[in-house]
Amino acid sequence: MSARIIDGKAVASKVHDEVAAGVAEFKSKYGTVPGLTVVLIGDDPASHSYVKGKERACEKVGIVTETIRRDASTSQAELIEIIEGLSADPKVNGILVQLPLPKHLNEDEVIHAIDPLKDVDGLHPENAGLLMLGQTRFAPATPLGVQRMLVEENVEMKGAKVVILGRSKLVGMPLTALLLQKGVGANATVTVCHTGTKDIAAETLRADVLIAAAGFPGAITPEMVKPGAVVIDVGVSRVEDSTRKRGYRLTGDVEFEGASELASAITPVPGGVGPMTIAMLLVNVLQAANLAATNWHHIRKS
Ligand SMILES: NC(=O)c1ccc[n+]([C@@H]2O[C@H](COP(=O)([O-])OP(=O)(O)OC[C@H]3O[C@@H](n4cnc5c(N)ncnc54)[C@H](OP(=O)(O)O)[C@@H]3O)[C@@H](O)[C@H]2O)c1
Repeated sequence: MSARIIDGKAVASKVHDEVAAGVAEFKSKYGTVPGLTVVLIGDDPASHSYVKGKERACEKVGIVTETIRRDASTSQAELIEIIEGLSADPKVNGILVQLPLPKHLNEDEVIHAIDPLKDVDGLHPENAGLLMLGQTRFAPATPLGVQRMLVEENVEMKGAKVVILGRSKLVGMPLTALLLQKGVGANATVTVCHTGTKDIAAETLRADVLIAAAGFPGAITPEMVKPGAVVIDVGVSRVEDSTRKRGYRLTGDVEFEGASELASAITPVPGGVGPMTIAMLLVNVLQAANLAATNWHHIRKS
């Protein structure tokens, strides 16, 4: 079997169109446009490139974006002051602190300082808690993107056996919460694997939907894929490649060639989950602007 390739760029483009329409409607209602402020600390090249992608996507759909750049020596107190200033600024609808932060900074304390109503990354404990309770306000963009792709691909999620490799607060954990909920693109039976899991292959071989978010190439080999499974590869790693001008290429967690012989559908890297992450961030920014405009402080119906 040769798997259908799930085109993340195409689904993302559909989401961009929806957000652009939402932004236009917002503008005609309120005479202003949604605004996102990104805070970027340090000079990690991958982070800079992610932020550029976010800025470009915002511009395309009409969201105003500003990036506050500070060098790696920024202190915790300086960063908290920036975040508190943005939290108090009514012109700012969404705040995104690009992670990872330099090691001397306390990530949790920084995230806690974000106004939860502007927390478009969905990492503030208030938003994480609402997600766990099935009362989603903001969920992190990557899990939202994975779920949206599955919906667009008409993957039957109700009752599906889903196995997620990885339990991070950014991907595995919130994705588990999303897919467990009752509703469209969810209601699945979810197993989460991590470094404490005894026999990962025994778990993945049961998966109708296998989602890899471990962060290293080869985390999922073809022997770990059930024939006919839908495989979603969240992982992104840089591997050296002297044939490329920039000296590296991006690769996912899944051994794509072999896995695509077994899977019924599979996401490529790049061009799979990556574009969806940015698209769903835009959805969250528009949602934050609508929350602010309507004082509707609570729940998004899924
Ligand atoms: N495409 C996108 O838009 C996008 C967005 C976000 C992240 N990513 C990529 O997705 C990957 C995961 O990101 P993340 O932030 O979730 O990473 P992370 O915080 O490093 O979490 C990795 C998770 O995988 C588990 N894991 C790692 N090695 C394992 C192993 N050998 N066996 C079993 N479990 C293992 C870890 O288990 P423990 O908890 O036991 O340590 C952890 O739960 C990365 O490649 C990242 O670049 C892509």
